[in-house]
Amino acid sequence: MMSLACRSGALTPYFQATNGSLKALASGTFNTSENVKKALESRTRPYVSGATGVRFAHTDIKIPDFSDYRRPDVMDPNKSSQESSESRRTFSYVLTGATTVVGIYTAKTVVTQFVSSMSASADVLALSKIEIKLGDIPEGKNMTFKWRGKPLFVRHRTEKEIAVEAAVNLGELRDPQHDKDRVKNPSWVIVLGVCTHLGCVPIANAGDYGGYYCPCHGSHYDASGRIRKGPAPLNLEVPYYEFPDDETVVVG
Ligand code: FES
Repeated sequence: MMSLACRSGALTPYFQATNGSLKALASGTFNTSENVKKALESRTRPYVSGATGVRFAHTDIKIPDFSDYRRPDVMDPNKSSQESSESRRTFSYVLTGATTVVGIYTAKTVVTQFVSSMSASADVLALSKIEIKLGDIPEGKNMTFKWRGKPLFVRHRTEKEIAVEAAVNLGELRDPQHDKDRVKNPSWVIVLGVCTHLGCVPIANAGDYGGYYCPCHGSHYDASGRIRKGPAPLNLEVPYYEFPDDETVVVG
């Protein structure tokens, strides 16, 4: 770098001035202000500053005015910024808090919409429920409906069946469950028509216990849908249902 500057002649006036100064020093006639003046006059381009150098600050560059972006509290250069630190800090806290709240709310909205977009639509939900008119099912009869691709048994029990099932000793049962825990209304038994052994559809009003009978491997269920005999391990499943009124049941 230095050799490049020397080759280009950028330092020539400096060397000349220094040389002259050294000669003057040797002869005892050195005059500092005179030599500096000479050096400056002989200068044809900017060169290295030193003890006798000139400050080459870019004073011609205009500094932009940021006043519009500055807070009024710190506009006065004669005022200590400590005086306004309290109010400026409060402003920063409020701004940060507001930004955080808006960010959280936005994130929550995005997540909620994303999750709800994956849930079942209204028409699909409508298909997931079935409404059954109970008046169409005579006492002592069982009707089969299709619900969510599976058979659904709705049985209108007689007084005798209700009394028999309520009196069953739970100790005799493979899957102990009291009749009152399987029905909301003793007159109505609502169960899935899927054998808990291997999934065959049992036959209603058949078998040793008068409830349901699965012919595939010989499982016998009672009139409450509880397994009483055969290989099936569990009672028939009770789906969720409710009675909006005395004449209707909604399953699902
Ligand atoms: S599937 Fe019903 S007894 Fe085997």
